[in-house]
Amino acid sequence: MSPQQGTAPVSVRWVGGPDGHLELLDQTRLPGEVAWVECRDVPTVIEAIRSLRVRGAPAIGVAGGYGVVIAAAEARQRNLPPREALTHLLAAAEEIAAARPTAVNLRWAVERVLREVGLSAAVGEAPLPATDLDAALLRAAREIHDEDKRLCTAIGRYGADLLPDGDILTHCNTGALATGGDGTALAVVTTAWADGRRFRVWADETRPLFQGARLTAWELVQRGIPVTVLCDSAAAHLLATGRIGCCIVGADRITAGGDTANKIGTYGLAVLAAAHGVPFYVAAPSSTFDLSIVDGTEIPIEHRGAAEVTSPWGRAIAPPEAEAFNPAFDVTPARLIRGIITERGVIAPVTQAEVARVLGRR
Ligand code: MRU
Repeated sequence: MSPQQGTAPVSVRWVGGPDGHLELLDQTRLPGEVAWVECRDVPTVIEAIRSLRVRGAPAIGVAGGYGVVIAAAEARQRNLPPREALTHLLAAAEEIAAARPTAVNLRWAVERVLREVGLSAAVGEAPLPATDLDAALLRAAREIHDEDKRLCTAIGRYGADLLPDGDILTHCNTGALATGGDGTALAVVTTAWADGRRFRVWADETRPLFQGARLTAWELVQRGIPVTVLCDSAAAHLLATGRIGCCIVGADRITAGGDTANKIGTYGLAVLAAAHGVPFYVAAPSSTFDLSIVDGTEIPIEHRGAAEVTSPWGRAIAPPEAEAFNPAFDVTPARLIRGIITERGVIAPVTQAEVARVLGRR
């Protein structure tokens, strides 16, 4: 079933109470098929994150938070004694947090859920009694989910207020599919549209996994917003036409200095935007910032399998002898970013002082 015309799809949902399960909209099957993956154990959660059934930095954070609830339920179902149950929970939480390395939201969410119940990977004390623990973990995971909805709404509002006239060029998918709410960069687009602004969205197809063509175009069509899909390599030609008012993208990790990791191809797009004098914006919640590092070269970049490049959908497009280079993300230096739109306001200019000032707001 497709989401109703005009409404945003839901990517992550928890069904039932503390002994319930997680359901993820399987994004590998979109746009052709709307199917849900049921996660009742930790390996299924990890597989779903690694294979991008659930994807987008905030959404994998939300899923990771619920994954911790599942890890606690697993320990209870196995009737493990308290100390072994705790060991299982912490080991499973670490495995979930490490499932994908670049988006900081995943580890942030897992650690926040543990912290909210008084646990951390470094603490070896006995946990709360089982039922209380499960309920407390679920409350913490739900809070991250609910909070993400609110953050998306705030980002959409701040971004819509600064969006210049003209068409919008975006990369990858940053909508409801990628978050627990309405999206980040795409929430800016949908909020501006709801305000009565009119434009066309140009969606880079986003090789090699086509999140732009498959997911962003799908979401915008559901919303009734005009969208044109282009090959990533057509972006320079499009920018040269002068019809693009701004580029806006999401982020997987932003340093204290504003350097931003996002889907591979984002850096190239930012260079092109600068060459054509087109403002380049990033939209992301505060949970995407990693203030422990300043320089973007310190961001761990996920490298994925060769087959995604050489055999899309199982069809070989390169000789078997060819090797493939498949970084999933790249880093755009702060100097190429006109502003970073967060739920606490817009960081502009993108400097370390301004990042600290805006994120310091409550
Ligand atoms: O590999 P993906 O599809 O998880 O990459 C997603 C992106 O790069 C998004 O732009 C980013 O996570 C922001 S989503 C609001």
